[in-house]
Order: sequence, then C-alpha cells, then structure tokens
Amino acid sequence: MASSPLLLLLLLLLPPEVPAATRWPSLEALPEGAAPCQVGELCLQASPQKPDVPLVNVSLYYEALCPGCREFLIRELFPTWLMVWEILNVTLVPYGNAQERNVSGKWEFTCQHGERECMLNKVEACLLDQLEQKMAFLTIVCLEEMNDMEQNLKPCLQIYAPKVSPDSIMECARGDRGMQLLHFNARLTDALRPPHKYVPWVVVNGEHMEDEEHLLHLVCRLYQIDPTKSVGSLFRRSTPGESPTLKIEKKQQNPQKRYFQYRPWRL
Ligand SMILES: *[C@@H]1O[C@H](CO)[C@@H](O)[C@H](O)[C@H]1NC(C)=O
Ligand SMILES: *[C@@H]1O[C@H](CO)[C@@H](O)[C@H](O)[C@H]1NC(C)=O
Ligand SMILES: *[C@@H]1O[C@H](CO)[C@@H](O)[C@H](O)[C@H]1NC(C)=O
Repeated sequence: MASSPLLLLLLLLLPPEVPAATRWPSLEALPEGAAPCQVGELCLQASPQKPDVPLVNVSLYYEALCPGCREFLIRELFPTWLMVWEILNVTLVPYGNAQERNVSGKWEFTCQHGERECMLNKVEACLLDQLEQKMAFLTIVCLEEMNDMEQNLKPCLQIYAPKVSPDSIMECARGDRGMQLLHFNARLTDALRPPHKYVPWVVVNGEHMEDEEHLLHLVCRLYQIDPTKSVGSLFRRSTPGESPTLKIEKKQQNPQKRYFQYRPWRL
C-alpha cells in the first residue's frame, strides 16, 4: 500500500538507533494470508472513504509482558493495522489477567508477570491517555518489540511523540492517574461477556475472536460485507446456548502456529 502516507512515514521513521538484534520478536514475518495480492483482493476494492461503512472495531485485552500478547500485537495486529488502518478502530486494553483490590480507597494491582508488568500496564495506559490514538498504538508496538521496555520508552516516544516527555508518562504511571486508568481497564476487562478465559483476548465488532491468526482476512471480510447482516457466516456456535464466537474458515489453519494462550493463574 504505497499510497498510504502514514506507512511511508513509518518506514522512514524506523528507529536507526535501535540495533535490529535487540528488537523482539522480529517483524520480518507477516502473518499468513497477508500477502499483498491477497490484501488487494480482499480489501482494496472497498474504498476506505466510503462514509457509510462502519470501521471494524478490534479490541485487544492483554498484559504488557505476556509473550502470546506480544506475539499477537506485533505479528498480527500491527501488520494488519499497517495495511488497512483506514478501516480499523483499534482499542488496546492493558490489564489482562491482573487483579485489583481496594486497599483503603486505593486500587492495588497484582499482575501475572509481577510488579514490573503492573507498572508497564500503567505506562501503556498512560500512553493511550496522553497520546493521539495512532501514535499511542505505534509507541506501544515499539515498546512491546523490545526486551527492555523501560529503557526504550524514551526512544520509542522520540519516534512517535517527540513532544511527550518520558518523565510525564512515568509520573502518570506511578501516580493516581495511572492507578485510575488501570482500574478503568480492570472494569472494561471484567465487563467482557463472555468473560475472558486467557490473554490475548481479541474482540472484533463485539464478538470474541477465537482464532487469533487470520485477523487481516477477518477484518477485510467484515469490512466488505454488510457487517450487520453477513457476520453470521463467520460465526461458529460451539455448543447450544453459548455465545457465538468469531471464526473464519479453517482451511488455511496451520496447527503449528497457535499462539500460546495465557490463562488466568488463579480462578
Ligand atoms: C472505536 O472504539 C471505541 C471503543 O472501543 C468507541 O468508543 C468508538 O466509538 C469507536 N469508534 C468508531 C468510529 O467506531
Ligand atoms: C474502597 O474502600 C474504601 C474504604 O476502605 C471505601 O470508602 C470505598 O467506597 C471503596 N471503593 C470502592 C469502589 O469499593
Ligand atoms: C464499533 O463500535 C462503535 C462504538 O461502540 C459502534 O457504534 C459501532 O457500531 C461498532 N462498529 C461495528 C461495525 O460493529
């Protein structure tokens, strides 16, 4: 999609100061089904300018240090976003399998990957709060690619939001604002119906997406068809009475490429 000025900008802005070896995991592999010709076939005929076509809502419920979440964000959601960002409404909800307690009026959090993850969840919640949405998304992708996210807050911000100081983000994350933002994410996560069973938990147009692999394909299908009428063709009902789950055809399924799903460690 060479016509996308943002993509060109992104390519120009790839951080030269970050050696490729420290990036994690590599961005080289695009998801299967994301070959440019297929994208063209699926999405390009649908004009992004069509005012009457609603955006496809993609919400990711995740936690900052879960490997499966990083894998999904970097290898699935980010490439999809790069290709069809015009038609996507991405919502990131950092919190995941964390838990919260009200300790004399303050929220205290326990995170699956420890205290460090709670702080990084707050950092990302603060980025989403303080940056313009696209730049927040890009900054979070930039961080999640890195092994040392704390050290890379500054370089990632320099690329996407040079006017925002890392100190203001850390002040937010360490203070009441970060606590409130994470509490808000806790409420969003707890309000999920059906409740999340693991992370990454992906919700597309209000429905849980069970197969995290073919996001681009799914998004294009949802955008091209009438989302209110034909979504049913993408659903699978597991057992009677259970909520429908977004599902796309299994034919390209590669069993070896299954994301490791993190279940809540205490339920
Ligand atoms: C994008 O998603 C957010 C919540 O996830 C919602 O509040 C907003 O209305 C959505 N925007 C569009 C254009 O669908
Ligand atoms: C949290 O606890 C304090 C007292 O310890 C109480 O006044 C407050 O209403 C509680 N807040 C919530 C949301 O439960
Ligand atoms: C996306 O979310 C917004 C806000 O919740 C909603 O108004 C809109 O209908 C959703 N779009 C689709 C295609 O479901």
